[in-house]
Amino acid sequence: MRDTHKRPTASKLEFKIRNMKAEDWEGAQRTVCLANGLRAQDGGRWLGRHSVAEMLERFPEGQFVAVVDDGTSEQVIGVGITMRTSRTPLERPLNWFGMIGSYGLANNDPRGKWLYGVELAVHPGFQRRGVASALYKARLGLVGKLGLRGWYAGGMLMGYHAHQDTLSPRDYYEKVLAGELVDPTVSMQMNRGLRVKGLIENYCESAASGNNAALLVWTPPIHVRPRKKPAAAATPTAGARN
Ligand SMILES: CC(C)(COP(=O)(O)OP(=O)(O)OC[C@H]1O[C@@H](n2cnc3c(N)ncnc32)[C@H](O)[C@@H]1OP(=O)(O)O)[C@@H](O)C(=O)NCCC(=O)NCCS
Repeated sequence: MRDTHKRPTASKLEFKIRNMKAEDWEGAQRTVCLANGLRAQDGGRWLGRHSVAEMLERFPEGQFVAVVDDGTSEQVIGVGITMRTSRTPLERPLNWFGMIGSYGLANNDPRGKWLYGVELAVHPGFQRRGVASALYKARLGLVGKLGLRGWYAGGMLMGYHAHQDTLSPRDYYEKVLAGELVDPTVSMQMNRGLRVKGLIENYCESAASGNNAALLVWTPPIHVRPRKKPAAAATPTAGARN
């Protein structure tokens, strides 16, 4: 676990969440690389200039960044990428690339009733200060704004590597689900109100997770309108009860 995860408290961070712009690609790519333990320049085509331009053309309102502003310029410190899909979370899960279709989100379906979480990453220098939680809030807010059924994603089980000699992916997943083990990513997502609905093996290449992910689902709370009380009669009739 990184040092940033051990810090008991952190100073208040001033940041804002806004929709991504084409010129954010470099900061977004750097953030994702550093968050995943890669070198800043190792992003390749994922969140490269062209893939960002394409995803912004397909679904601009689904792409978010968290930025800090030092008064002269903004620095991207967090990234949340989403797309719309008509595949429901009840269907057989596809792997990450099968879901997105291309780095420019070719499978984004403008009529899809579900929001799918494609990427979430926070720069290691700014973790544990509420940035991912704010990105979640923005993404889940979009479900209501667009009148969608809900949100789902594969949450990478990033702590699996520390247990892979003793536990199978399913045993590890079940222990995380039961709260017996804390996974740096999926436990945090569970704490944000996302429900775990299954294990997805071979979801996306990542040494830390052994390519394992948990299917995470969120649906908006159903608001039950309180029943209107019958209008009180001006003069209670005989035998009427309160
Ligand atoms: C997983 C990840 C996105 C979390 O980002 P983050 O910005 O650190 O997340 P948050 O700060 O919103 O929440 C993390 C924890 O910090 C705590 N926290 C938030 N603000 C805090 C503060 N000011 N002081 C102390 N702790 C704080 C939260 O309570 C949360 O802990 P909890 O889950 O036990 O409640 C980030 O660690 C990351 O990028 N990891 C690598 C990539 C990855 O795993 N991505 C997800 C792939 S599915």
